[in-house]
Amino acid sequence: AKKAVLGPLVGAVDQGTSSTRFLVFNSKTAELLSHHQVEIKQEFPREGWVEQDPKEILHSVYECVEKTCEKLGQLNIDISNIKAIGVSNQRETTVVWDKLTGEPLYNAVVWLDLRTQSTVESLSKRIPGNNNFVKSKTGLPLSTYFSAVKLRWILDNVRKVQKAVEENRALFGTVDSWLIWSLTGGVNGGVHCTDVTNASRTMLFNIHSLEWDKELCEFFGIPMEILPNVRSSSEIYGLMKISHSLKAGALEGVPISGCLGDQSAALVGQMCFQDGQAKNTYGTGCFLLCNTGHKCVFSEHGLLTTVAYKLGRNKPVFYALEGSVAIAGAVIRWLRDNLGIIKTSEEIEKLAKEVGTSYGCYFVPAFSGLYAPYWDPSARGIICGLTQFTNKCHIAFAALEAVCFQTREILDAMNRDCGIPLSHLQVDGGMTSNKILMQLQADILYIPVVKPSMPETTALGAAMAAGAAEGVGVWSLEPEDLSAVTMERFEPQINAEESEIRYSTWKKAVMKSMGWVT
Ligand code: G3P
Repeated sequence: AKKAVLGPLVGAVDQGTSSTRFLVFNSKTAELLSHHQVEIKQEFPREGWVEQDPKEILHSVYECVEKTCEKLGQLNIDISNIKAIGVSNQRETTVVWDKLTGEPLYNAVVWLDLRTQSTVESLSKRIPGNNNFVKSKTGLPLSTYFSAVKLRWILDNVRKVQKAVEENRALFGTVDSWLIWSLTGGVNGGVHCTDVTNASRTMLFNIHSLEWDKELCEFFGIPMEILPNVRSSSEIYGLMKISHSLKAGALEGVPISGCLGDQSAALVGQMCFQDGQAKNTYGTGCFLLCNTGHKCVFSEHGLLTTVAYKLGRNKPVFYALEGSVAIAGAVIRWLRDNLGIIKTSEEIEKLAKEVGTSYGCYFVPAFSGLYAPYWDPSARGIICGLTQFTNKCHIAFAALEAVCFQTREILDAMNRDCGIPLSHLQVDGGMTSNKILMQLQADILYIPVVKPSMPETTALGAAMAAGAAEGVGVWSLEPEDLSAVTMERFEPQINAEESEIRYSTWKKAVMKSMGWVT
């Protein structure tokens, strides 16, 4: 059969904490043509530790590319129409590899990992000058969340890494760097780079000068020669070179020209280009980002200041205020993998629906401490308010409610910092297909929740950045691109008073989870 010609297509790798996807979009209509998804393993070698295998991450990308190309073939779509590829990724997760062998030198230390708690405590006693040293340069609190301390731990504890650094063979990167280096040839000339959004999550990057910061590298004891080159989020970094894989080999020579941390990518994919526009993405964690334009706004209420995007070498940088919640979708995975009360993540909706209430049960999933707005690494998860009446359905409901309450906390902080309350919440991410969750979210925020009919906004953002890059130019970032997007709306259905009572009980539960580890 003759292959359909659709005009230029753009592919996007979306490498998240729980899964990897490869998606292909039509650059003229933003229509999603095909995709493939693979779940990623997480290892918990000790209490509080979270690791992933960088090789598995990379092979999951190959597999997704391969399978998506196969599916496009079945749709009679010519793969050679793919003109660019974008990468979006879980942020902060730290990889160190050997540039001569292409082998990772240690497992990836995942953003959720808590092993650096004591490193953070001892570093915080040594902060030079005023306590604002790290935050004023990076926009971030000194926390286990960010890459610098994970890299410090690896340098201190992994002999193979120490040796490779001495022999000038070690490269550091967040997942974007590891993937781009590997996909552009690895040991055969792979490009070692990252973009400004990912760099801004390392705690080594100065968000004002947009460069690695020498003083920060000294403070954390990081050799600057292992850091990747920092580029904009939309430019040609290198060309695909993965010919060993049959179908994916068809993408040989296609430019990789977009790179954004996943939360920034979702902000772009939701077209939040104006000052004051915000989105909330429900993935493994949950992240509310509000575009603050060219200004770095520093939070008084526990939010982060981060680079939102810079869509081209000569384009201006945009910043965002971010409310980060560590555990959202991860609590559903925990109910599935650790408690076994559901077999698939989708089953949570059925369980929650059976009861329609948590019956006074509250679940604070502080598995990795609490992030925004509390920043308490010593918090741990609790389920409270149990009676003999409580069953697994109530716990399932409480888990969904927890995601919504945590979002309420960061929305409140955002409203306080910005001064103008959000009139509605734009949402996306895997969990937004759960209608109970969306309705609960509208009830708990007491504002409408609005979701695009195409939920893959993270990948869309990466594809847009790749397609719009100089030298590619197949995607226009003009606002009329929005016209095709249809939205689903969830209006609050309970009264504000009821919503407030539930929220204040949640806060009581949060207080009980804090300061658990001493
Ligand atoms: O900062 C961590 C974040 O990028 C992870 O995103 O989608 O895996 O929850 P996600």
